[in-house]
Amino acid sequence: MKVEEIKKICVIGAGNMGHQISLCAALAGYKVSCTDISEEMLRKAEDFARTYLPERVAKGKMKQEQAAMALENLSFSSNLEEAAGDADFVIEAAVEKIDIKRKLFADLDRITPSHAILATNSSFIVSSKVADVTKRPEKICNMHFFNPALVMKLVEVVQGSHTSQETAQVTMDLAAKLGKTGVWLKKEIYGFLVNRILAALNHEAMFLADMGIAGPEEIDLAVTNALGHPMGPFRLMDFTGIDLAYYIGMERYQDTHDPGDKPSPILVEKYAKGEYGVKTKKGFYTYD
Ligand code: CAA
Repeated sequence: MKVEEIKKICVIGAGNMGHQISLCAALAGYKVSCTDISEEMLRKAEDFARTYLPERVAKGKMKQEQAAMALENLSFSSNLEEAAGDADFVIEAAVEKIDIKRKLFADLDRITPSHAILATNSSFIVSSKVADVTKRPEKICNMHFFNPALVMKLVEVVQGSHTSQETAQVTMDLAAKLGKTGVWLKKEIYGFLVNRILAALNHEAMFLADMGIAGPEEIDLAVTNALGHPMGPFRLMDFTGIDLAYYIGMERYQDTHDPGDKPSPILVEKYAKGEYGVKTKKGFYTYD
């Protein structure tokens, strides 16, 4: 398959990542069906698009016709068969739980046309962990966006040993069509490039906080002012979701049994209180 043959993209999951990936693809001129098991998430994703696009037009960042085209390209459905049945490319951005993803990929393999590439946007789960439930492992890869997907330019494309050269190339080409800079990882590795680097930073930041050396605010101030990052690690975890950081830590710990991979006490405390960050209006910081 060539990238030019992709006409319709299905995005699975209307959450933090999925709603913005859908909009990116719709803005790039693709027909996009965004699907989620939650009607409420779908409604929120649609509301976001209907607010974001006119705001961009009002700000002078986008032409009215482009906004109208994007809205026309977008559809939302809680019916997986309807959303994915005629998709040429699927980007799975569902919750970071391996059992759910394996079930989804088995369903997608049954539902989608045989030429369709099935990519996962998972932050940590390599595609070989889902490819084996399909009859098309050569068409399975990771296509990993960053939050907020409408703004962040990078996409990591990870080629597992089961992924064909053609699939990885088409996925890189699709990233470029979406206005992103793709980086092609030729082998699978846990956390890919960016999250490995970020995890090292977060690990150290949480260790310093757990030790009582400095609080989240001081550590964030240090990172933004000395290293020039736009957000410090605690603010960033609030933004990407403390629940996500917790699930990822637990998933990793269950894999490695290395106590060093266990979510740190400060993270567990926030998770246990249901303080997930921006989405619950409280995390390491409080939000109005
Ligand atoms: N959704 C869409 N657009 C957004 C946005 C959002 N949530 N937040 C900000 N923007 C846009 C604004 O509209 C604005 O666009 P224009 O300049 O074109 O008008 C632009 O971003 C800048 O916004 P602000 O001036 O309001 O705020 P800012 O300068 O502080 O930027 C930020 C906000 C882009 C989020 C910036 O703080 C940033 O880059 N933070 C770090 C983000 C980051 O590290 N992401 C990677 C996370 S790791 C990850 O994603 C891993 C994973 O596996 C999920």
